[in-house]
Parts: sequence; C-alpha cells; structure tokens
Amino acid sequence: MPILAQNRSVEDEDHLFRLLRQLDIAPQASQRATATALGISLGRLNAQLRTAANTGLIKVTDRDDTDKRKRFAYVITLRGGSEKNRLTDVFLKRKFTEYDALHAELTGATSGLSPFKHRTKLMQNNLAPVPELYVSYDSSQKMKLEAADLTSHNLTPRQICDLELLMNGGFNPLKGFLSEADYNGVVDNMRLTDGTLWPMPITLDVKADYADTVEIGQDIALRDQEGVILGTMSVTDKWTPNKAHEAEKVFGADDYAHPAVNYLHNTAGDVYLGGPVTGIQQPVHYDFRARRDTPNELRAYFRKMGWRKVVAFQTRNPLHRAHQELTFRAAKEAQANLLIHPVVGLTKPGDVDHFTRVRCYEAVLDQYPSSTTAMSLLNLAMRMAGPREAVWHGLIRKNHGCTHFIVGRDHAGPGNNSQGEDFYGPYDAQDLFREHQEEMGIIMVDFKHMVWVSERAQYEAMDEIKDKEDVTILNISGTELRRRLVEGLEIPEWFSFPQVVAELRKTKPARDKQGFTVFLTGFSGSGKSTIANALMVKLMEMGGRPVTLLDGDIVRKNLSSELGFSKEHRDLNIRRIGYVASEITKNGGIAICAPIAPYATTRRAVREDIEGFGAFIEIHIATSIEECERRDRKGLYKLARAGKIKEFTGISDPYDVPTNPEMSMETENVEVDNCAHQIILKLESMGLIKA
Ligand code: PPS
Repeated sequence: MPILAQNRSVEDEDHLFRLLRQLDIAPQASQRATATALGISLGRLNAQLRTAANTGLIKVTDRDDTDKRKRFAYVITLRGGSEKNRLTDVFLKRKFTEYDALHAELTGATSGLSPFKHRTKLMQNNLAPVPELYVSYDSSQKMKLEAADLTSHNLTPRQICDLELLMNGGFNPLKGFLSEADYNGVVDNMRLTDGTLWPMPITLDVKADYADTVEIGQDIALRDQEGVILGTMSVTDKWTPNKAHEAEKVFGADDYAHPAVNYLHNTAGDVYLGGPVTGIQQPVHYDFRARRDTPNELRAYFRKMGWRKVVAFQTRNPLHRAHQELTFRAAKEAQANLLIHPVVGLTKPGDVDHFTRVRCYEAVLDQYPSSTTAMSLLNLAMRMAGPREAVWHGLIRKNHGCTHFIVGRDHAGPGNNSQGEDFYGPYDAQDLFREHQEEMGIIMVDFKHMVWVSERAQYEAMDEIKDKEDVTILNISGTELRRRLVEGLEIPEWFSFPQVVAELRKTKPARDKQGFTVFLTGFSGSGKSTIANALMVKLMEMGGRPVTLLDGDIVRKNLSSELGFSKEHRDLNIRRIGYVASEITKNGGIAICAPIAPYATTRRAVREDIEGFGAFIEIHIATSIEECERRDRKGLYKLARAGKIKEFTGISDPYDVPTNPEMSMETENVEVDNCAHQIILKLESMGLIKA
C-alpha cells in the first residue's frame, strides 16, 4: 500500500493526483474546462483547489481579476511538483498490481510481469504524445477574436521559432516564456525552479518603452510579422535582465564575437516578459511543408513505423560523405533507426541558406535506406552555445520522440572568440551531455572527428587511426570548402556527393559569376559620374552580367525626388541606393553607384547590406575640394559660396574621407578611360571578372 501523505485516503490521493496532473497538462484552461476534464462539478473543483492551495501544493497567480471570463492561473509549486511525482509512482504501482492480478487471472500464470522502469521510460519517449500548448480548434477560433482586442507584441524571427517549439511541445516541459525565477535558475544552474534540467533561457525580450505599456497579470497577443495572432501570453513577470551575466553563464563569455552574445546586446530588447502561453495556431511555413513535423507528428510516424529506437542527427550544414558515414555508424552502434533532423530556423550567420541545404539533403536522401531513415526539418533558432546547446538539442530531440542523439566534435560551436581562440573545447559538449544524459532520458552517441584515409579509401575516426604516420589523411574544412566554391575549384568526390556540390554551386557560383557592387564616393564634381559611365560601358563590352548605373543625379530624379540634403535625407537616399544595389547584387548583376555619400556610418551600413550577397568595392574618388571648385561644372560651388545653396558638401556640410576603401584614385591629370581601366584591373585581381 502507498504511504499516504497527511492521512489522506486512497480516494483523496487519487483526486489530488488527477487534479495536479490536469493542472500540469492545461494550466491555462478555464475552471469549467478543468472541471469537465476531471468529470466533477465546479463546486467540487473549487473545494479541491482550495485544499491544494492551502497545503502549498499549488499557487494562485491571477485571482484578483473581476472579469469572470478571464482565465485563472494555478501554478504547481515545487512541493506540488514533487508530490505529483510521488503520486505518479503510487498510481503506476497500483495500476501495475491490478494489471498483474488480471494477467494472473486470465493466463493462470502467477506473476509473469515485471515493471522494467528504464525500458518503459524509453518506450514512452517515442510512443506517448507530448503535451502541447494549443487549445482546440473551436477555442482557437474564439480566442482569435478575443485576442484581437489585446495589447499586441510583434514577434521577432527568433521569437517565432521559440514560440513554435513552445506551443508544439518541442520545448516541453516549458509552458511559456520563462518567468524571472525560472530564468535565474536556468542561467545560473541550468535548472527551472522545480529542479527540472533546462539549459537555455527561452525569454520574450521586448523594448523598454513597450514593456512600460504592459502590466503584470495582463494577457498579450503574440503576432507574427504579418500580424497573425499565433498565441497569447499571460504576463506573470517583467524584469530587466543582467545581460552581461547571462552571456557569461550561458555562452561562457561576454564576448561580442559570439553571435548569440552579439544578438543579446545589440538586437534583443532590454526587458524580458515571462508567463504561460496559450497556443492558437502554428506559424505558417510556405516552404517544404511536407518535410516539417511537430514532435507529435514525428512520434506518430515512429509509432506507425514501429520504430522503438531512433537516433537523431542535428545539422546546420549540407551533408557530405563524412556525415553520411557518421550517421550510418551511429545508427548501427545504437541499433536504431535514423532521423536526419536539420535546423531550418536560424543558424549561424553566414551559413548556407536553408533552401539550398534542404535541396542538398533531398539529393543525398536516396543514399540512405528509406525503411530505416527519415528526414524532418526543425524550425529552431540556434544559439551556438556549444555544451549547453548540445543538452538543449538533446531535450528537444527527446521531445520529438528520439531515444538517441549524435553529438560530434565541437557541437554547435560559434567559431573563434575575440582573441582568436575557440569558445569551447572540441569535446566539451559531449562531456556535458554525458553528465546529464541519464536525467535527460536520451542517450548520446558520441563521434570523433572523421577523416578520409586515402590508402584505405574510407572515412575513419581520427582518434582511432593507429598508423597515422603511414597513411594519407585528408580533410576539407568548412572554410576551405567555401574558398573552393568561391574560386570555382574542384571539390573531390571523396569529400562530397556530386549532386550536393552541384546544388551548392548553383547558390554560390564562382566569384566571376556572382553579382557585385562598385560604390564610388567623393565630392560633387569629383568625376564620379564620368568614371562610373566609362566603367559601365567597359563592363557591358565584356558582357556576361547585366550592369546598372545608380548615379547620384539619376537616383535623385527617379528614387529620391522628394529628398533634400539634410543629414537625414542624405542617409535615406544612400540607404535606398544600397537597397537597390543589394537586390541587383543578390540577383547576379553588377551595380555601379556614384553618389557623394558623405557619411562613413551610412556607407558602412550599405556595405553590410550588400556583402551578404556579393562583393562591395568602395572607391574613393579623391579629387580635392579645391579642384572640384575650380572645375565647378554645374556652377554649384559658386552658388554654395554665395550662400544660395545651403549644406553643400565640402563647403558648408561635412565629408568623411573613407579610411579603408578598396581603392582610392586621384583624377587630376588622369584620363577618364585610365581611371575606369584601373577599376577593371582591381575587379580582375579580386576574381570578380575574368581577364
Ligand atoms: S548625397 O549626399 O550622396 O545624398 O548626394 P547625391 O545624391 O549624390 O547628390 C549630389 C548631387 O546633388 C547636387 N546638389 C548637392 N550636392 C551636395 N550638397 C548639396 N547641398 C547639393 N545640392 C544639390 C550636386 O549636383 C550633386 O551632384 P554630383 O553628381 O555629385 O555633382
């Protein structure tokens, strides 16, 4: 017989177990819905809630509201959590005894059954559905209308990824964005307040002025970037985090070279809001719809296929031969089926875009036996947090029904820190995972660095090669692969599959096939437009790529006719030029821009807009202001000196001389044709055009 706490009867314990379980599954449900789910009257439910609250097992977090329709929130306390766990064990033991007795009665066997705890746990992992935060379809239709009146928060791309995994159970057991207490626990000890292991702070960061408009206890609508309401959050917490501390603890250093630290300080809002989330609808994805699965959809698939053991492979890179070898071996070692589970949410800046990657994955999928391998896309926003990230990835995969998880060398590594050293040791992630895997309920399959051994024509784990001195070991790093792609060099068959290389080459053509932008800057009358025109004609003579001239005067007529020459208007003008040039560059064309562009910060911003798509070549046309004034082709300097034109660059408005342009050229006593030719030579030397 179970030991009864506080002299409760078995029946009372049963009721309490069901109540705590229900509150855990649906903490946001209305009292009526909770009563219905438990099959009891509202009055009875109230009495049970009162007793549970009085004995400290649950906490009422929102009861002051006068609006009866407003959902209450009961939170299971730390004590309640452990009581629920105890009651779960008691309940399961009793059920097992009943089942065992029934088994004995029906089969005549005395007792042929035994509860194999570890195995049941693993079986449950990939068989039983994981709790989601979505309400039913009917409720979601109703809630959508009601939520339209709530204060809205427009989610950032990262928050949309986080919300999707919160709502679909990918981040189970989280029930919403972290409260302040849970956040502190996660940051400092990787644990929620109830003691559950959770390594990554999942926070709703907002701007301080927006936070001022939100009260504790208020419900807010969470909208995607098109304004669609995906869910609501009952705000229980609002606080200003210590971001430097968060960076130190979670990412190991408050160093801006870490992409997530940079995001934390430069992109994330200064205030965090926390509270339980109610899911209304999944974020809409228009791409690869058939390849995206929620945790429960994957679990259902595994159930249908009878897959008891599934090893997941996390990746943010295209799959090459080494990965195939590694995943095969992992599946063999764990005697499990294989789930290729690439991240398509947000990965490391500069990674191959997910569209290309998914086409690459699809291209190699037929290298795997379809009866034992599946591929599904995961809309996760990675943080590149190495060891903590590995544990987080493991928990997410467990929620997706996997029993094993591959952790390789430098898992989710962010690259070098500002001292040029690695943020984490190559096997730190494996060590942390190993430390926690028992508790996590998912088993690590660790892998060392795989390299190609020429003599044996196969991949082997670097650490296991005994005759290193006598064999030829080959490997191509990510940086080397990028270089080969950019320069159009050979990528050997031992390294990758021809279909994958072909896909990568389509997205990342060789430099002489990529788009680029030439950006001429200098005073009015410095010769920018004349040189730009000559350059355009020379490039058109060569052919191969479309060339567009965005001259200062042309732009001011066609794009910026309403703008003047204030700092604000000049910035807007240059940003518009940058935007058009980035589109041209993205689409493989050549953009030649020739505005004055007097401010260094704006030029830098334009460079950043463009460099994601192709090269940006800044050329300072360094004709002196005296020479420009002497030439005074348009008679503007005269007017500026007379004060008839205000804010004239070089006369009454500043010009920041470029400090680090790709090229700087004098125009005095130099032919225009020669200036344009110098630029052509520069483009050739950069590999952007072929001689
Ligand atoms: S900016 O600062 O980059 O936005 O300027 P931009 O679009 O290149 O436009 C410069 C042309 O506008 C004429 N103009 C002036 N230039 C500078 N300052 C003032 N106040 C001004 N007012 C009119 C001038 O003819 C510039 O043409 P370019 O081709 O540079 O000679």
